[in-house]
Amino acid sequence: MEHTSDHGRDGVGELPAGRPLQSEFADGLDYPRLGAVSFRRGTLTDNQEALFTEHWPRLGRVLADERIDIDDWFGGPAPTIVEIGSGTGTSTAAMAQVETGTHVIAVELYKPGLAKLLGTVVRENIPNIRMVRGDGIEVLNRMIEPESLSGIRVFFPDPWPKARHHKRRIIQSGPLRLFASRLKKGGVLHVATDHAGYAEWIDGLVDVEPSLEYMGFPWSDCPQLTDRQLITKFEGKGLRRDHTIHEYLWRKRG
Ligand SMILES: C[S@@+](CC[C@H](N)C(=O)[O-])C[C@H]1O[C@@H](n2cnc3c(N)ncnc32)[C@H](O)[C@@H]1O
Repeated sequence: MEHTSDHGRDGVGELPAGRPLQSEFADGLDYPRLGAVSFRRGTLTDNQEALFTEHWPRLGRVLADERIDIDDWFGGPAPTIVEIGSGTGTSTAAMAQVETGTHVIAVELYKPGLAKLLGTVVRENIPNIRMVRGDGIEVLNRMIEPESLSGIRVFFPDPWPKARHHKRRIIQSGPLRLFASRLKKGGVLHVATDHAGYAEWIDGLVDVEPSLEYMGFPWSDCPQLTDRQLITKFEGKGLRRDHTIHEYLWRKRG
């Protein structure tokens, strides 16, 4: 276990100081190397700080080298969906309110984004959302039991448009293998992007992971909610610029 840093006023929800946890995967696949870029800082308002101090200990945790007992955290068993890169959590909250019989774990690096979602969860009394602050790759690898999830969502991941940054993209062969390993048989991976270049990149990867069956989009019998219920901040920007939204669904093979 690493020490918790005391950046910030009270340290609640802070990532560990020093080098970020970064797994070495021995499978020869491609993994994003976030390194220093993973530390997105941002200042919280006094209200958000107070909210974190009061509610984060119950509803959130920070990346650590320990498995989460999900049923215990939510107070009972239910199918669990992890969303990587939930941003400010607008679609996370909207979807969770529809999928009431589901546990939703939102993973995000950006503390002000988590603060916004935390505020929504508290204000609207949404019982089925928990949050983890940290790199989604590390959270899945270290904190989530293999074959335990019903779904994984990655909505509008950072496109890293410059060729020399493509290796930072989260959709690569390695993360796809990791996502598959955390899904139960029949579990669903849902990815959306409004970036044409990223869509082309994903098009080239839809069949790269043998344990994920590519289902296209829409998939009429999909066992998981796929409608985001509203237009997210990033999606909205894309739509205004007449971008097409590309969506991808995979099913974990048995
Ligand atoms: C373009 S935004 C999209 C946010 C949100 N899904 C939406 O549609 O509004 C991408 C988000 O992913 C987060 N992110 C990027 N890499 C991540 C990682 N490895 N783990 C967790 N979050 C990550 C960023 O901090 C950012 O908030």
